[in-house]
Amino acid sequence: MGLLDGKRLLVTGVLTDSSIAFSVAKLAQEEGASVVLTGFGRLSLVERIAKRLPEPPPVIELDVQNTEHLDTLADRVGEHLDGLDGVVHSIGFAPQTCLGGNFLNTSWEDVATALHVSTYSFKSLAVACLPLMKDGGAVVGLDFDATKAWPVYDWMGVAKAGLESCSRYLARDLGKHGIRVNLVAAGPLRTMAAKSIPGFQEFEESWPDKAPLGWDLTDTEPAARACLALLSDWFPATTGEIVHVDGGVHAIGA
Ligand SMILES: NC(=O)c1ccc[n+]([C@@H]2O[C@H](COP(=O)([O-])OP(=O)(O)OC[C@H]3O[C@@H](n4cnc5c(N)ncnc54)[C@H](O)[C@@H]3O)[C@@H](O)[C@H]2O)c1
Repeated sequence: MGLLDGKRLLVTGVLTDSSIAFSVAKLAQEEGASVVLTGFGRLSLVERIAKRLPEPPPVIELDVQNTEHLDTLADRVGEHLDGLDGVVHSIGFAPQTCLGGNFLNTSWEDVATALHVSTYSFKSLAVACLPLMKDGGAVVGLDFDATKAWPVYDWMGVAKAGLESCSRYLARDLGKHGIRVNLVAAGPLRTMAAKSIPGFQEFEESWPDKAPLGWDLTDTEPAARACLALLSDWFPATTGEIVHVDGGVHAIGA
C-alpha cells in the first residue's frame, strides 16, 4: 500500500528537477498517486523534465496571472483525471527589485506582481480546482517562514506573510467543502527561484549551522515528504497549519 494510493493530484511549479514540486510529483507517484502537472512559460522544458518522473504525467499550461488559464483549468485537468483529491501550489516569483536589500525603494508595480504570483494565486488556484474536489481533499502550499524579517528576502517575505494569512482564510472558507489547506515552510533550497535571489548565499552559509538537525541545501525530499503527508489521509483534522521543514531553525533564537 502506498501513502497516496488512488489519490488524484495536481502539482504546479515543476521547472527543473531541483524544483521542490519535482520531488513532490516523484514521491507522490511512487506512493500510488495519479499526477497531472502544470507548467508556466517554457512548457517544452517542463515536458522534458516530466519525462524524468517514474510515469511521465500530462503537463497543462498555467500562468496564475492569466484569468483564462484559471477559468479553464478544471476542464483541462478534467481531460486527464475524473476529479482531484489534492492540489500542490509550489509557485513563487518576485521581480529583482523586490529582493536583495532594496526594500525601501521597490515600486508598487513590482510588489503587486510579487503578491499576485506568490500570494493571491494560492486562492486563485484553490478556487479554480474547486469544481473537481467534490469529495473534499487537501491543498498544500510552499512557504518560507514569514514571522521574521530576513536579510535579502524583502518583499518576497511580505508575500509569504500574505500567503500564510491567505492559507488560514482558505482553511476557514474551504472547510465546509471538506478541503484542508496547509503550508510547508521549507528551509533554503538551491532551486531556480532561490538562485534568482541576490544574496541568497547569506541563508546558505548560516542555515546548516543553525539547524539542530543540520540542513542539506540540495535535498528537496524532506519538504516533499511533508507535502505528501499533508496530502494523505494521515492529517484528517489539520487545516490552516504551517509545518516547518527547516532542520529546526524556526525554533532556535539568534
Ligand atoms: N527554494 C527555497 O529556498 C524555498 C524555500 C521555501 C519555500 N520555497 C517556495 O517553494 C515554491 C517553489 O519554489 P522552488 O524553490 O521549487 O523553485 P522553482 O523555481 O523550481 O519553482 C518556482 C515555480 O514557480 C513557477 N511560476 C513562476 N511564476 C509563475 C506564474 N505566473 N504562473 C505559474 N507558475 C509560475 C515557475 O515556473 C516555477 O515552476 C515557491 O513558492 C518558493 O517560494 C522555496
